[in-house]
Amino acid sequence: MDYTNLIESALKAKENSYSPYSKFRVGAAVLTKDGKIFTGCNIENAAYTTGICAEKTAFAKAVSDGNKEFLALALVSDSDDYASPCGECRQFISEFVKPDFKVILAKSTNDYKTYDFAELLPLSFKLER
Ligand code: THU
Repeated sequence: MDYTNLIESALKAKENSYSPYSKFRVGAAVLTKDGKIFTGCNIENAAYTTGICAEKTAFAKAVSDGNKEFLALALVSDSDDYASPCGECRQFISEFVKPDFKVILAKSTNDYKTYDFAELLPLSFKLER
């Protein structure tokens, strides 16, 4: 699988990051099963805990547009290290993805690591009654 386009989309979304408090820009792009890409950036707030992460923004856009089946997510930041989704985002994403959903932690289009979602959130919580 070629993730160039997905990573480029995440890099572009990072440019829209609203992060005046942390100055830490994050961009995300999620790929749907039918080939659509939805992007997101982190959006901070003066009341710090109200801000939302890039991954949540991307998934919120995709789900609210009627998409519920996903193949992969690319995540980028300005850090020298690979950006990795926070715990809350892993839980948020787990609602919509299968264990083999791919998470691409990218520094650039030719420097990235790919994980299965199950590696990032093993034993994920399921509400089974
Ligand atoms: N952030 C994300 O957008 N995604 C993550 O998975 C971790 C953190 C954002 C939140 C905040 O705007 C900034 O990075 C610093 O924590």
